[in-house]
Amino acid sequence: MCGIFAYLNYHVPRTRRDILEILLKGLRRLEYRGYDSAGVGIDGGNSKDWESNAKTIHLIKQRGKVKALDEEIHKQQDLDLDIEVDVHLGIAHTRWATHGVPSPVNSHPQRSDKNNEFIVIHNGIITNYKDLKKFLESKGYEFESETDTETIAKLVKYMYDNRESDDINFATLVERVIQQLEGAFALVFKSVHYPGEAIGTRRGSPLLMGVRSDHKLSTDHIPVLYRSSGKEKKSCSSMPRTDQDTCLFPLDEKAVEYYFASDASAVIEHTNRVIFLEDDDVAAVMEGRLSIHRIKRRVGDYPARAIQTLQMELQQIMKGNYSSFMQKEIFEQPESVVNTMRGRINFDNNTVTLGGLKDHIKEIQRCRRLILIACGTSYHAGVATRQVLEELTELPVMVELASDFLDRNTPVFRDDVCFFISQSGETADSLLALRYCKERGALTVGVTNTVGSSISRETDCGVHINAGPEIGVASTKAYTSQFVALIMFALLMCDDRISMQPRRREIIQGLRVLPDLIKEVLSLDDEIQKLATELYQQKSVLIMGRGYHYATCLEGALKIKEITYMHSEGILAGELKHGPLALVDKLMPVIMIIMRDHTYTKCQNALQQVVARQGRPILICDKDDHETIKNSSRAIKVPHCVDCLQGILSVIPLQLLSFHLAVLRGFDVDCPRNLAKSVTVE
Ligand code: F6R
Repeated sequence: MCGIFAYLNYHVPRTRRDILEILLKGLRRLEYRGYDSAGVGIDGGNSKDWESNAKTIHLIKQRGKVKALDEEIHKQQDLDLDIEVDVHLGIAHTRWATHGVPSPVNSHPQRSDKNNEFIVIHNGIITNYKDLKKFLESKGYEFESETDTETIAKLVKYMYDNRESDDINFATLVERVIQQLEGAFALVFKSVHYPGEAIGTRRGSPLLMGVRSDHKLSTDHIPVLYRSSGKEKKSCSSMPRTDQDTCLFPLDEKAVEYYFASDASAVIEHTNRVIFLEDDDVAAVMEGRLSIHRIKRRVGDYPARAIQTLQMELQQIMKGNYSSFMQKEIFEQPESVVNTMRGRINFDNNTVTLGGLKDHIKEIQRCRRLILIACGTSYHAGVATRQVLEELTELPVMVELASDFLDRNTPVFRDDVCFFISQSGETADSLLALRYCKERGALTVGVTNTVGSSISRETDCGVHINAGPEIGVASTKAYTSQFVALIMFALLMCDDRISMQPRRREIIQGLRVLPDLIKEVLSLDDEIQKLATELYQQKSVLIMGRGYHYATCLEGALKIKEITYMHSEGILAGELKHGPLALVDKLMPVIMIIMRDHTYTKCQNALQQVVARQGRPILICDKDDHETIKNSSRAIKVPHCVDCLQGILSVIPLQLLSFHLAVLRGFDVDCPRNLAKSVTVE
């Protein structure tokens, strides 16, 4: 939900102004994860000697967006922005409230006490914070905020105040803290007692580190140090045991910069060398050297963390000429679907290869049932492709909302294959459902857009949708790429079935022309903008359809709800006469999706039912379907394609419509109220 960013320069001189700018920039990149308040914690004094500055911590926190924090920083009278320091750790946070209203006191960093001895930034939820708070209060610690995070700041101070010896290190204190925490967290700590040192740790919420140095890194793996009865042991005998163990560059070359972030988009402009931390890793930077600690080794744990090179480019995550990321992402879809298919489909011989599934495909083909589990838009991608999955795999396919799936304790068996569809790969409900299915022995498959995300790491195998970073909170290009990825999977499942070959060829050739057809739909933008001017003052919009387009109705309604704040409902046209028809009159805006597939006649019936109640439907239909078009004065005419892919073309007009409605209603398209891009809490 929230965004974490921290920056440590070691023997790299930086002015305070530069440091603050790096922190603010990191937060701006993360703002899409949460944006109701923001804060930074930096060294306090104004001396040229960094160690003396680090004896105090200065906190600046503000309600609202990062821009408001930026303004607040520039109002600070007692901060000399021009002083240059050789070593410094700054930590920063953008928040989406879970415990406590958005306010400076509830913003992060949270602190241990009025002297700011320890400060912490947190992403996630601590479920046992009330018990911890009660304990700490009984020991005399006074709380000032309503947050769960404040208990962590107080707890680390409690560990420090009750240390058995003066030479206890920062990582040990944090290890002790996290042993007391329940729930989900990614944390970065800073302390006046450990100048120039940073500690980051995670459990259930993502956290990665970036490293930058002009010197060649001397290793591409950091060995994990396991603690046993108070002493640290190297992870395994084959690991190096010299002083260089945890050193990323030759020891005599000191200059290095480290970044901690909840998302790679915040570090990519500084470095593409990153380390994804695992649950319960405690990463410590001390005297410019990074070490990774764990209490004990888990079964199957890899005893080192790789330094990976990210391929993502900054321009990929910038807005370009568009007014919002959402608009950019809608218009990127001709390319993003190509990227999903690139290297995977051979259109000349109609073959599909999915490298991430190749070791498991035989097992998947033998399974008894497919279960697609997801939330929100990703769930709709499952609904949209269920029919073709059933057709091509001839298996029962269940599509489940992750939260409900867990609430029901749904029976799962060893011969089930469970798919987890998630743009971010970090959605807490989906991640919990994944762990639930793993415990029951099912094979798990990830369909994510985020390499290195929790879902992609924890599933047995998977498909990356390769849609590129999606920044707009409302998901658009990820949906169409998830759609394509699931269709590719269905094609792969039946590649040796002779009876399926004509259908496979039809779908594969449909995928070949899909990018051009998407471009054709996007060319309707002006027309859709005009339609938005007619609708934007309405209170409600109903969207009706059936078969392959039921998912489009749900997804279109979700897009409208989340960014325009209008009421909108996706209605299965087959259910009209069982209730929703009562809503229809000449004033109620109704959008009907009618395509020439096997439900065409039934959709025509629904159209007649709506028209007979004086409804004046806006149609989304095949461009040459004159029979349907004559029933309405307003029709968005889309090109025809293979039935099971048509949902990709019918959803784009609704993505565009929701975008234009939101702009006309004056709302921030990329940052809808009360929502965050990555929902890492249950
Ligand atoms: C809607 C939207 C959300 C997400 C949902 C799941 O536009 O973006 O409904 O689809 O929160 O997120 P992921 O796909 O990251 O698991």
